[in-house]
Amino acid sequence: MEKKLKAEELFSVEGKIVLLTGGGGIGEYLTEAYLANGATVIATNRTKEKGEKLVAYMNEQGYDKIESYPLDQTDSAQIEELVDKILAKYGRIDVLLNAVGYSYDCKPEDFPEEEIRKMIEINYVSAALLNKIVAKKAMIPAGGGKIINIGSIAGIMCHSKNVFPYEASKAALHQMTRSLALCWAKYNIYVNCIAPTWVKTPLVEHYKGDYFERVRKMHYFDRLSELQDYVGPALFLSSDASSYVSGLILTVDGAWSCGRTVGHEEGYEVQY
Ligand SMILES: NC(=O)c1ccc[n+]([C@@H]2O[C@H](COP(=O)([O-])OP(=O)(O)OC[C@H]3O[C@@H](n4cnc5c(N)ncnc54)[C@H](OP(=O)(O)O)[C@@H]3O)[C@@H](O)[C@H]2O)c1
Repeated sequence: MEKKLKAEELFSVEGKIVLLTGGGGIGEYLTEAYLANGATVIATNRTKEKGEKLVAYMNEQGYDKIESYPLDQTDSAQIEELVDKILAKYGRIDVLLNAVGYSYDCKPEDFPEEEIRKMIEINYVSAALLNKIVAKKAMIPAGGGKIINIGSIAGIMCHSKNVFPYEASKAALHQMTRSLALCWAKYNIYVNCIAPTWVKTPLVEHYKGDYFERVRKMHYFDRLSELQDYVGPALFLSSDASSYVSGLILTVDGAWSCGRTVGHEEGYEVQY
């Protein structure tokens, strides 16, 4: 293996072709991070209008190596068409970052059937289709690539009430990531997950009152996570810095998922 010791070489995504699906809160921030580091980003949103807004915003920031396509990621024909377009234009996809997600809250006993199905469909099935199609059409023929799925600490532990289908869909996504990692190592494809804690995006804007203050107190660092906290993990998993890391569920959660100690919220220290 080539000797690389400098961070700017090791973590570089310069010149990489990145397919980033779900240009919402986390996806939009990471789009800008990839562009700031010299990558080309093909972003997707559900509607053309949202995509145009994203491109216009990135152009205003001085980035032009971005384009956007509308995509309903639950539709494999649309994914196939998009991947074909990217391959025709760029010839490869080096990095796939799947930031698509959906959530809905309801008491478990009243959860609407269509919402249970929708969450599994968007958070798990669409990811499975996307990972599969990108690997088969782009990364296996190219001799490798990096896939990053955005999971959630909700796939590791139950951290809030009334979202059991979301938790199940993210647990499925994590396990899929691990399974694909071992199956596709022979193709030099790395498959990892970033598992965020709460971060303020449109996905969670329906939580009102003092909910986020309560969430903040659950973490061991005295703050909520911010979009900036996800840039380092994404660049790490997209670059040579993670040259032997595959199947990892990288939690970005201020240690919350490590467990909660007695009296943690009040900063209590055990007396002996
Ligand atoms: N925010 C949090 O606290 C948190 C915590 C843990 C994990 N996550 C995960 O982080 C990822 C990004 O979420 P976010 O917080 O950035 O929320 P967000 O702003 O709501 O972004 C979700 C993205 O998913 C896209 N999407 C939804 N259904 C789709 C479909 N059928 N086809 C294609 N795209 C679809 C949305 O498209 P449009 O842009 O067209 O709306 C949007 O870009 C998700 O996987 C989420 O589960 C978030």
